[in-house]
Amino acid sequence: MNEQITSFVNSFKSELKVISPGRINFIGEHTDYNNGFVLPTAIDKKITFSFRKASSKTQCTILSTTYQKLFTFAIDEITIREATWENYIVGVIAEIQKVTNGVGAFDCIIDSDLPLGSGVSSSAALECGIAYGVNALFELDMSTLQMIQLSQNAEHNYVGTKCGIMDQYAVMKSKEGTVLLLDCLVNKHTYIDVNFDPYVVLLLNTNVSHNLASSEYNTRREECEFVVQMIQKEDAKVSSLRDITLSKLEEYKSRLSSVHYERAAYVLEENERVLEAVAYLRTGDLKQFGSLMYASHRGLQHQYHVSCPELDFLVDFSETKEEVLGARMMGGGFGGCTINLIHRDMVDTFIKEASKAYKKTFDIDLTSFVTVPSQGTSMYS
Ligand code: GLA
Repeated sequence: MNEQITSFVNSFKSELKVISPGRINFIGEHTDYNNGFVLPTAIDKKITFSFRKASSKTQCTILSTTYQKLFTFAIDEITIREATWENYIVGVIAEIQKVTNGVGAFDCIIDSDLPLGSGVSSSAALECGIAYGVNALFELDMSTLQMIQLSQNAEHNYVGTKCGIMDQYAVMKSKEGTVLLLDCLVNKHTYIDVNFDPYVVLLLNTNVSHNLASSEYNTRREECEFVVQMIQKEDAKVSSLRDITLSKLEEYKSRLSSVHYERAAYVLEENERVLEAVAYLRTGDLKQFGSLMYASHRGLQHQYHVSCPELDFLVDFSETKEEVLGARMMGGGFGGCTINLIHRDMVDTFIKEASKAYKKTFDIDLTSFVTVPSQGTSMYS
């Protein structure tokens, strides 16, 4: 640690502490920005924040122990910064300023055990933790939905990813032992109790993050919007893919490029899979639930084209193993983790085998962890 960091840490008297978790998503990928359904929940890996009001009127000091970096910014002069992770923070503050003028200067120490760039949404965890902490520190009285939406806006306006609302929603609203069925048309959720026993949730991290992720993400969104606009010209009631059925899409197939058709078909099928998966979850049919996870991956791989060889390899590998009920890529794609529902007795053996095969094929070390549905962003003492 350099001297400046050491002295900042040693003199820091925390006024409040917040934890903000990462998230997983069982099924419903790239459906959120199409007003569809998703099935995420928070995990037990998280970012931890210590906040205090700053001694200065306008100057904030932020320390990331992960990056071993200290930076300052003035709350009355927020501009886009070079480092992406800093933009998640200043972006949230700028968005809060659009809804209230009560934000003062603050200092914060940020510590994390969440793997970065792995599709478990360390970015939403960071945004939501900042929003939650600043809301409490300055008694801003923002609603949870307000904080969710302004965190999403920070990502649009300060980072440039036109993300949907799933990550921030799951990070903020999740409850231990449950998954969220979120309807992104109305931003309303239902908690579903889960008990996977004797199965557990295992994440396999490809440890790749192809830099296509952000640009291709925005392109997918535009492709879906293109389909909506085309249909809208003839049917003004259509305002998102949620208003279109698969049979209606068929009517337009000959007028759409195969790429546009595949993108929209994937989204409509994925929405159906989410609702089906929820029904299986409710009756405890984990086998059928798992096969929908595989089907979701194949859609992302072949129709939506957001997977990559490393993710496909791991899902293919899982599919050969009886002990894995379901597996799929998770999040935006082009790298990050696969989520696997696996028999708890086989976890160690499976990890050993998968790591060996993955290393042999890509010469990359696989990392992995078992996780459980956990509480969303909250105070801790
Ligand atoms: C990223 C985005 C989410 C969602 C997923 C794909 O994680 O932040 O809004 O679109 O990709 O499902």
